[in-house]
Amino acid sequence: MWWPSNLVQVSLFRALHEKEEKREGKQTRLRFFLIVFFVSFAYYIIPGYIFPSISSLSFVCWIWTRSVTAQQIGSGLQGLGVGSIGLDWSTVAGFLGSPLAVPFFAIANFFGGFFIYFYIILPIFYWSNAYEAKKFPFFTSHTFDHTGQLFNTTRILNHKTFDINLPAYESYSKLYVSVMFALIYGLSFGTLTSTISHVALFDGKFIWGMWKKSTLATKDKLGDVHTRLMKKNYKEVPQWWFIAVLIVSFVLALYACEGFGKQLQLPWWGLVLACAIAFTFTLPIGVIQATTNQQMGLNVITELIIGYLYPGKPLANVSFKTYGYMSMSQALYFVGDFKLGHYMKIPPRSMFLVQLVATMVASTVCFGTTWWLLSSIENICNTDKLPKSSPWTCPGDEVFYNASIIWGVIGPGRMFTSRGIYPGMNWFFLIGLLAPVPVWFFARKFPEKKWIKQVHIPLIFSAAGAMPKAKAVHYWSWVIVGVIFNYYIFKRYKAWWARHNYILSAALDAGTAIMGVLIYFVLQNNNISFPNWWGSENTDHCPLAHCPTERGIVVQGCPVF
Ligand SMILES: *[C@@H]1O[C@H](CO)[C@@H](O)[C@H](O)[C@H]1NC(C)=O
Repeated sequence: MWWPSNLVQVSLFRALHEKEEKREGKQTRLRFFLIVFFVSFAYYIIPGYIFPSISSLSFVCWIWTRSVTAQQIGSGLQGLGVGSIGLDWSTVAGFLGSPLAVPFFAIANFFGGFFIYFYIILPIFYWSNAYEAKKFPFFTSHTFDHTGQLFNTTRILNHKTFDINLPAYESYSKLYVSVMFALIYGLSFGTLTSTISHVALFDGKFIWGMWKKSTLATKDKLGDVHTRLMKKNYKEVPQWWFIAVLIVSFVLALYACEGFGKQLQLPWWGLVLACAIAFTFTLPIGVIQATTNQQMGLNVITELIIGYLYPGKPLANVSFKTYGYMSMSQALYFVGDFKLGHYMKIPPRSMFLVQLVATMVASTVCFGTTWWLLSSIENICNTDKLPKSSPWTCPGDEVFYNASIIWGVIGPGRMFTSRGIYPGMNWFFLIGLLAPVPVWFFARKFPEKKWIKQVHIPLIFSAAGAMPKAKAVHYWSWVIVGVIFNYYIFKRYKAWWARHNYILSAALDAGTAIMGVLIYFVLQNNNISFPNWWGSENTDHCPLAHCPTERGIVVQGCPVF
């Protein structure tokens, strides 16, 4: 999950190009951008090179150096992160997007969801040893077998056909995950159903009205000043352009699935179903994104559906996810870019063509690069065989691969039904579906209490969805910065906020990113590392936080209870 920063882009664009504005205002804003940019750029040498530990200071671990439980509570990267903080813009914005671009009510809901999950539900589950939680590390996305060792997928895969070897699976073990990760899946089920019921309850009427208006109303007199200006000056994109692109890409996708000796494992009906899912969910998820700047992940539902319908096939699973989820997510990007173009008065037809060409260029380049890397770098992504300093460890693909094992090879049927360990997570479907109802009811009953309407159940459910890639310390740093800027400064210094907030965000992003690239190419790539000291480790100094606490589980570097 990530936050597209349209607001930031618009604001930056205005700061740099707007004509109507007084020269003076424009110049101060430009100067402000440059100053922040250089400060951010210069500062990032510290977390990026000299003192990486500053990204996750976990005080509790420094005090209780021998207690697993204390480190589980204090670790910012592998635990609850109580009292942990990162003094680094990439900690703040690198995992959850810039908090400056998120309205305060969304931050509050997000924090609420994070807090309830991470500091109430998870501790109860973990310390009551639900789902054998204590056998496994506290915070991990890895998969395990019943003995607490990493799940050995090699044992259950047919290597010729790349699908599950059932007898081998039955004689090995069911698939276990940490209770933290299991609950994340539960919450993603809840996110899905609550998105549907929330949008239906709160926005159903509005959407219906808009739909009627846009399909039935006559062409003129419709829309705001931007729409009228655009209509007057530029030709619209004709409908058939979209339809032509749809047909061409559908046929190509069909060929990719059914051709090539069916290597992708996904049959034609899977492709049709994936398109139907993308089509159905684009609107409700788009509505939520438009109001909260947060995109609900659809990936889990696509994995779940094809996992039930077509278990044991990991490639079918990822293909279905790509056609179902990625196409929706790209559609929303596309709409977002068009909105940007709408406000910036870019001719829609040019916009359409640019998007089309850029998509083709980007996908060709990505495909070519991947092909080239896979064939030219020995043992790429194989961390056991790669030299220690090699950058080709593919952490993102590792998560993607693990997901294909969980959902494709094992399948939700052997995971979330009575045949697996986690059927209890299905309750989240029901909880999510019903949770927006009381909020909606009370918001109508007490319309004078404005805050009730601001309780946003899908946001609350999805808050934890960025885990386990985003850790506790990222959440805390994100929330603190977000509250400072979009609550305190927003309230007290509104004029300053309106002119500078988004520019600040863009400048911090840009400075950090450019220094990051510089460090990589100039220093790390040439093996020039900073002298070793306590702070040069890229850790939170909580070496025991990942240890299992169940009796008799032996893990290297951990005490045995
Ligand atoms: C996983 O299983 C394979 C096949 O049974 C075996 O060769 C390999 O050593 C195992 N790996 C681990 C890490 O236990």
